[in-house]
Amino acid sequence: METKACLVLLFFFLFLSSFLPQSQGKRQGEALDNLFKAKLNKHSTIDKSHFEPISLVHGAKVLSQVGLQERDRIEKLPGQPAVGFTQYGGYVTIDESAGRAFYYYFAEAQHSKQSLPLLLWLNGGPGCSSLAYGAMQELGPFRVHSDGKTLFKNRFAWNHAANVLFLESPAGVGFSYSNTTSDYEKGGDKRTAADNYVFLLNWLERFPEYKKRDFYISGESYAGHYVPELAHTILHHNKKANTSLINLKGIIIGNAVINDETDNQGMYDYFASHALISDETSHQINKYCDFSPNAPSESDQCNNAANEANLNVFPIDIYNIYAPLCSNPNLTAMPKKASVRFFDPCSDNYVYAYLNRPDVQKALHANVTKLNYDWEPCSDVIQTWEDSPSTMIPLLREFMENGLRVWIFSGDIDGRVPVTSTKYSINKMKLSVKSPWQPWYLNTQVGGYTQVYKGDLTFATVRGAGHQVPSYQPTRALTLISYFLSGKPLSDATWGN
Ligand SMILES: *[C@@H]1O[C@H](CO)[C@@H](O)[C@H](O)[C@H]1NC(C)=O
Ligand SMILES: *[C@@H]1O[C@H](CO)[C@@H](O)[C@H](O)[C@H]1NC(C)=O
Ligand SMILES: *[C@@H]1O[C@H](CO)[C@@H](O)[C@H](O)[C@H]1NC(C)=O
Ligand SMILES: *[C@@H]1O[C@H](CO)[C@@H](O)[C@H](O)[C@H]1NC(C)=O
Repeated sequence: METKACLVLLFFFLFLSSFLPQSQGKRQGEALDNLFKAKLNKHSTIDKSHFEPISLVHGAKVLSQVGLQERDRIEKLPGQPAVGFTQYGGYVTIDESAGRAFYYYFAEAQHSKQSLPLLLWLNGGPGCSSLAYGAMQELGPFRVHSDGKTLFKNRFAWNHAANVLFLESPAGVGFSYSNTTSDYEKGGDKRTAADNYVFLLNWLERFPEYKKRDFYISGESYAGHYVPELAHTILHHNKKANTSLINLKGIIIGNAVINDETDNQGMYDYFASHALISDETSHQINKYCDFSPNAPSESDQCNNAANEANLNVFPIDIYNIYAPLCSNPNLTAMPKKASVRFFDPCSDNYVYAYLNRPDVQKALHANVTKLNYDWEPCSDVIQTWEDSPSTMIPLLREFMENGLRVWIFSGDIDGRVPVTSTKYSINKMKLSVKSPWQPWYLNTQVGGYTQVYKGDLTFATVRGAGHQVPSYQPTRALTLISYFLSGKPLSDATWGN
């Protein structure tokens, strides 16, 4: 019960914080903090055991999708510049009896859409929207101007390399909803994976030309859980059916939650090595905290040191430790001069204003049931989170054994799920090195470093990128995804853009 109360409180805190300036840009990570704190609480009822997919006994229900693709086609978004690719948006029913439906936004490739792969992008939280972050602030084709009503092009959008599908998941996130409100009290990793799987089968029925296409799943932050869990669910059902129901080829996750113990340890080590906390606080954390999955409840000494660390990092943007905070969240009457290369820390506010406009919702085919709450970047309606495994490592091993391409990247100035956490988590897998640590280049500049492990797991850093890598380093992020999708090693990336 305490976990429930705790999460309710935390979601309430999120709700409050949405009225404070500067807060919106932090929300994706706040949701993550809340879950981590709840998981460390000794009275926690969150199930942290290994991920087992919900077995869809009769297989997933695939409904008729005739005519729905054409219905979902988006003519033009309000305030949008002219573009040469096609976009779609709409709802896919997940469960007819509960009245549960997921919202998606799909940007087809700018060229060669018949041959380029299909790429699904998921944001984390839990509870945060892939429309809010992925589509509108990171890798999508548009960004929102400071007037909250016009768009400008993202020259480095990932639909130069793939057909990109953004999904708001689970129910209660963004425009995705359930008519059975008790669904919001049963949030968790398992339900999310099962629903995402049902979504995909039905979406592919609506867009049958993508059924046989190479399919990849990508995401950041808590999608370090969602992505492997969905991939595992796909493999599970492909094996059961003895056929490739979904043509999954690989996964790529960035600044991703992978393994709680190493993620926590790596975060505090990053704080210490980047002079955000004192040596004394770091020493206390190392001496008194035990982040292992079966640790007894944390001691007072550990909690005091962790609180001290929180106080130290609170005033900065922990998702990009060198970024300025948003100092004026107000919209402007005329759009400020904007550039994809210089990320505006206030853009959460522009996106919030844009996606809550009735004309925008109409153009997107969103909110067709007139939900009784506003669109939020991270959910205020999901009440509890029932399960969150302490590690994703067994799933990553499974993918390597099954010949999927596995890439893990890390923006190196994120303090929340930093590069140290990711390195510790990969080290935990005890893989041997196939090609050693080396820089990768873009325009003669080092874009980051990469190392490939036997079994074909690629690790790559993105220099100068925060938690939302494509927001801060759009050219480097597009290079990374292009190499991942083409099957070429990132160390080959020596060309200009
Ligand atoms: C949810 O309820 C509304 C209003 O009754 C209905 O129009 C809508 O189709 C329902 N959603 C689903 C997925 O059944
Ligand atoms: C699975 O499919 C393959 C090839 O289609 C077939 O040879 C094999 O017998 C099938 N296995 C089972 C258990 O049905
Ligand atoms: C933002 O707008 C509000 C309401 O119009 C106003 O009171 C406030 O001073 C503005 N903030 C800044 C920093 O301009
Ligand atoms: C849906 O539409 C209603 C009525 O226009 C509006 O009040 C509500 O904020 C919207 N909710 C979402 C999630 O977009």
